[in-house]
Amino acid sequence: MCGIVAITSKGGGGGGLALALVERLSRLEYRGYDSAGIALVLEGANASQSIYRARAAVASRSLDELKKHLDSAPAGLAAATTGIGHTRWATHGRPSEQNAHPHLGCATAPPGQAGQAGQAGKAGEAGAPRAYPEVAIVHNGIVENWRELAGELERKGHELSSETDSEVVAHLLEEELALTSSSSVAPAPPAPSSPPATLSPLAVALGRVAQRLAGSYAIAAVAAGFPTIAIARRLSPIVIGISGDAGGGTGTVMAASDIPALIGMADRCFVLEDDEVAELNGTAGGFVVAGLDGEPRDPVEITVRWDMEQARKGGYADFMGKELHEQPQAISDTLRGRFNTPEGMALDEMRLSEDELREVDKIFVAACGSSYYASLVGKSALEHWAGLPAEIEIASEFRYRDPILTGRSLVLGVSQSGETVDTLQAVRLARQGHAKVLAVSNVVDSSITRMADGVLYTRAGPEIAVAATKTFSTQVVAFSLLAMYLARLRGLLYPEEVTRLAGDLTGLPALVRAALDREDEVRKVAEELAERRDLFYIGRGAGYPVALEGALKMKEIAYLRAEAYPAGELKHGAIALIEPGTAVVAVATRGRLWEKMMSNISEVKSRGATVVAVVEEGDAETASYVDRSLYVPPSRPLLSAAVDVVPLQLLAYHVARARGCDVDRPRNLAKTVTVE
Ligand code: G6P
Repeated sequence: MCGIVAITSKGGGGGGLALALVERLSRLEYRGYDSAGIALVLEGANASQSIYRARAAVASRSLDELKKHLDSAPAGLAAATTGIGHTRWATHGRPSEQNAHPHLGCATAPPGQAGQAGQAGKAGEAGAPRAYPEVAIVHNGIVENWRELAGELERKGHELSSETDSEVVAHLLEEELALTSSSSVAPAPPAPSSPPATLSPLAVALGRVAQRLAGSYAIAAVAAGFPTIAIARRLSPIVIGISGDAGGGTGTVMAASDIPALIGMADRCFVLEDDEVAELNGTAGGFVVAGLDGEPRDPVEITVRWDMEQARKGGYADFMGKELHEQPQAISDTLRGRFNTPEGMALDEMRLSEDELREVDKIFVAACGSSYYASLVGKSALEHWAGLPAEIEIASEFRYRDPILTGRSLVLGVSQSGETVDTLQAVRLARQGHAKVLAVSNVVDSSITRMADGVLYTRAGPEIAVAATKTFSTQVVAFSLLAMYLARLRGLLYPEEVTRLAGDLTGLPALVRAALDREDEVRKVAEELAERRDLFYIGRGAGYPVALEGALKMKEIAYLRAEAYPAGELKHGAIALIEPGTAVVAVATRGRLWEKMMSNISEVKSRGATVVAVVEEGDAETASYVDRSLYVPPSRPLLSAAVDVVPLQLLAYHVARARGCDVDRPRNLAKTVTVE
């Protein structure tokens, strides 16, 4: 996920502010990034370059590349006291230097793309030339209404030079700042001797811009002539740090999207709440917080007791624990901006026309591992809502078969990394068969997305632990979105039904959070299971892929033999293995097949099995049949997999920890498998 760092200090960095920004950004590398950039305000420089910007897009080498750029930086950089930096994990627009942050407005856009620095050149709305102050911004989150805002800006004469949603913020800010600074392009800085009591025009302007943004944001902005940094937040975190004698005006004031970037530099930390703006003033050594309307607010101080390693993991013991708990946010991010668009629903990149999609008569899905199990969940959604037959295939099998592909087939390649070679080869085969290809991936511009005709991104953020957690649940959500999208095109869902389903999807993060809140109960059951060698997992309907995914987690990270079966199939063979004390994990939520499931549970219990079941809260009847209950809130049948899988993820996680396994780096496994 993207990272933000912003620093302003009284004496400047002794030439080192740019390096300090890069160094602080490197502390956020664990979040994953594909490009990086910094922007610094050059004091006393001439108007042709009041903001210095450097960007690089060479994946995880971007920060090293930025350091190289600094060798040829302008002389004024050494005295700079104020700057912002960003590591980008692409969501809108491919990873490239052009799309990397910081973004500038027209006043500072490169020659040929827009107005020259500091010049009056852009036509105002009434056709009059308008001078914009130079600004630079970095942004985390998603501006859902960016298309609409970009259209409005272009009509006013702004030229946008990237494919990102974020760039609109820079252009809106230069507009607002031009108005807020009451015709002065470079307003006087606030009084240097004490923290500013009120916001400068920069922060006022950012507050106004933020009010126009739909979606989520953490923004840091600088402008020529201001020795301050304005920040704003909604839903995406941003933390303020101060060091030295901040009150006495000798310290450094900084902000970052994550605490690791502040550790070792900040003595005290404060959080910005939703819909707040703050102005950091290095010269005065302090900061002020206000609502977006400029109304002063009290800053909220937090105590940070983490060391660097803990901070990287957000206070969790490992990345898997952190990622498990990121699922509600990951689902919200995957859903953000999908509904209520002019077209009704939005996918990410769709190079297939609506008519081409209406022609589709069969869907094939090729995937591996957890992506395959998420696809099995997706099969029900595609068949139920979109009314299309869907064959779900393990990619390494699909590619060596002779599937009957035609121009009316739609092949989905589902891969969180977008680089799994078996899935890529399956997609290649689909292309040769003249099928239409759609990718579902978590990595913007990954190989699979470049091979496909259309892309639906899960926006789970980087997943570092080898075992998939948040990417599984967001894939389940992605399939629901796709099924609804196709159903709409095929006239199978009325707009009211889409609205109702959208409401159910929007409620999903809260249900997942409720399931995560029961972690302590799951941990106790895990401790009881930690010494078993073998486990059986059973489920029916949507519960079967959940059982498969739960068993896969147990194999991957706890190294226990865990086999999943469709519960009704057990009696055709595997039941011979059940003996007194055998552990059976059952998905027993109240679906259509609940009664059948209860019969299957009776079959194993009567042979002495210990049954641990995923049970809906308040379902005393099911709880009384089984030995241990892992409770989840009730959820809608086709979405339930994202909720019901949570206790099984937690179960594997805690069994693995109880057994002393390295949950993030299990033996013999790789996160991205680029060999056949
Ligand atoms: C590897 C990982 C699994 C993952 C599978 C598919 O085997 O260990 O966790 O589910 O690859 O990865 P993909 O990136 O294609 O979804």
